[in-house]
Amino acid sequence: MFTHLLSAGRIGSLTLKNRMVMPPMGSFHTEADGSVGDELVAYYAARAEGGFGLIVQEYTCVSPEGLGGPAEPRLWSDDDIPGARRIVDAAHTGGAKIVVQLHHAGRETTSAATGGLRPVAASPVPCPVNKEMPHELTDEEIWGLVTAFATAACRAKAAGYDGVEVHGAHGYLVDNFLSPYSNKRHDKWGGSLVNRARFATEIARAIRATCGPQYPLLIRISADERVPGGIEPAQAAVLATLLEAAGYDAIDVSNGVYASMQYIIAPSQVAPGYELPSAAAVKQAVTIPVIGVGRISDPLHAEQVLASGVVDFVALGRASIADPDFPRKVAEGRTDEIAPCVACMSRCLDAMTVGAGVSCMVNPFSGNELTMRIAPAPVRRHVVVVGGGPGGLEAAWVAAARGHTVTLLERSATLGGQAVPGCVPPGKQELARAVAYWQHMCELHGVDVRTRTAATHDVVKALAPDEVVVATGGTPVDLHLESDGVQVVQAVDLLAGRATVGPNVLVVGGGLVGLETAEHVVALGSTATVVEMTEAIGTGLSSLTLGFVLAGLRAAGVEIRRSTTVRRLTKDGAECDTPRGPVTLEGFDTVVMAVGEASDASLVPDLETLGVPVHVIGDAKRVRRLADAVEEGARVALAL
Ligand SMILES: Cc1cc2nc3c(=O)[nH]c(=O)nc-3n(C[C@H](O)[C@H](O)[C@H](O)COP(=O)(O)O)c2cc1C
Repeated sequence: MFTHLLSAGRIGSLTLKNRMVMPPMGSFHTEADGSVGDELVAYYAARAEGGFGLIVQEYTCVSPEGLGGPAEPRLWSDDDIPGARRIVDAAHTGGAKIVVQLHHAGRETTSAATGGLRPVAASPVPCPVNKEMPHELTDEEIWGLVTAFATAACRAKAAGYDGVEVHGAHGYLVDNFLSPYSNKRHDKWGGSLVNRARFATEIARAIRATCGPQYPLLIRISADERVPGGIEPAQAAVLATLLEAAGYDAIDVSNGVYASMQYIIAPSQVAPGYELPSAAAVKQAVTIPVIGVGRISDPLHAEQVLASGVVDFVALGRASIADPDFPRKVAEGRTDEIAPCVACMSRCLDAMTVGAGVSCMVNPFSGNELTMRIAPAPVRRHVVVVGGGPGGLEAAWVAAARGHTVTLLERSATLGGQAVPGCVPPGKQELARAVAYWQHMCELHGVDVRTRTAATHDVVKALAPDEVVVATGGTPVDLHLESDGVQVVQAVDLLAGRATVGPNVLVVGGGLVGLETAEHVVALGSTATVVEMTEAIGTGLSSLTLGFVLAGLRAAGVEIRRSTTVRRLTKDGAECDTPRGPVTLEGFDTVVMAVGEASDASLVPDLETLGVPVHVIGDAKRVRRLADAVEEGARVALAL
């Protein structure tokens, strides 16, 4: 069925066993100083054992002033070779080929990140995101950096890598030269396309000269930078011919620069395969293989992409974080067992926001290869899980996979808890794949799932459990506002289809749920106004997701009022306090409350009288993100 995905392929002198590539992704599983430790080795070993034909190891710096952050791995010294060799050995033992992405951040870093070294660039123009004025490289310095790339490639070869990939995408130094958006030079390194490509082509020549004509050499480019004046697919196609002529063996096509980061790593609001049109433009122009990436996370989609001939290899980025065994499960016909990437921008992006190693909301085992493993339980027990939301489902299947007998009690008719209404707003539908996955894993491991079953003391007692896990989630906060009678509904009830709204809706609360509910309201054909008591809106959404949500709301004419606290409800709206004084908002048929959740652990005191250990997890313990509930579910099940 997956004949294209599973067919062998070639990149230069390299033969790959299948067409599934793990693209480069900064994992933050390095040691604090960027060196290689057990955690990083285990992370790559898992993806190799999981069947990826090719792993492109995350961005790895070639020169100290080009460091993206202190934890980035590096290959600028021979001292870095032994650590690198550990990753190579792990990848080869697991059956994968591995190349390393050679990187220099250029202007997309800061002197704070480089330990005091000033960023450098083709031109003295600051990156609009990092905003630090870079030093304009001299001709001599440029040649020095060409050599730095070539020397790092030699170290990669010495460490045993099957090749190298030059990072020529995302606005980093090589792309900084390639792009008219950021290269304003008038010498031989700027101006015409040939000149702008010179840095990348000279790097290829230098690597070829030092590592030999056969050493596999890839380059990643942003074939659609998605910024005014940036590289567009038609130009990328011409550029690709120059890169092929310079000796690159494959082109890995990505999109975006820092100023368009939402297209480097796109949230679920962006369609699957969104980067493929630009890859297709490149593919038409060259004879070397092209790798395509971008929201390809479903095996059938990946197969169809290859079958259509639009690219030669598919790179499964976050999909490889979500499930290191993606290729193996495809080969074994176990696609229902693939933990799906739903582009929620949650745990994988914690790497960039809080510096935590990448993991996955759907699969908390990811990135925790050393510490979280499903091993048979020493003593098999009867575990009763109360609550069939994501945390409860994860706890149930993991406990069952360890050999426990598991009964899951869910008081409603459906599984998935808050994730079910969470699937409803526009762009969130793919979350349903996660719910289907958790549910499938429960079935696979024989969890006795009982819906429409309230976990009363007597019901649980009759099951004679040895352990009880309470994952009852939260309930929407009711502000108990005085009201003259306007219709009030809870956001969760609206999303779940248990409530309806009139034509004009006031949404109270501008966090994640409030904004997504406003999107749903306008999709239903009503108007929406959002009031938020703080200045911050979209709390709980990744900044990359927030941009799309706000653009959608703006386009639909949704008004968002910050620093506006609802004091009382009227017959058609609300009286509010603002820093500029009181305001009355009128003309609304419905007020939708989206002011957060409170833990629901109401069953706990009763269940504790059963005399068996009761473990409270997820929102029932403390209201947090979905990812936290799922991870807690897995961890509690591993400890039983
Ligand atoms: C956590 C994270 C780190 C990333 N780091 C890199 C990197 O080091 N080099 C690179 O070229 N792209 C990097 N990317 C981009 C990915 O390689 C990939 O192009 C992007 O995630 C889109 O593919 P996907 O939708 O399959 O995840 C990163 C993406 C993520 C999620």
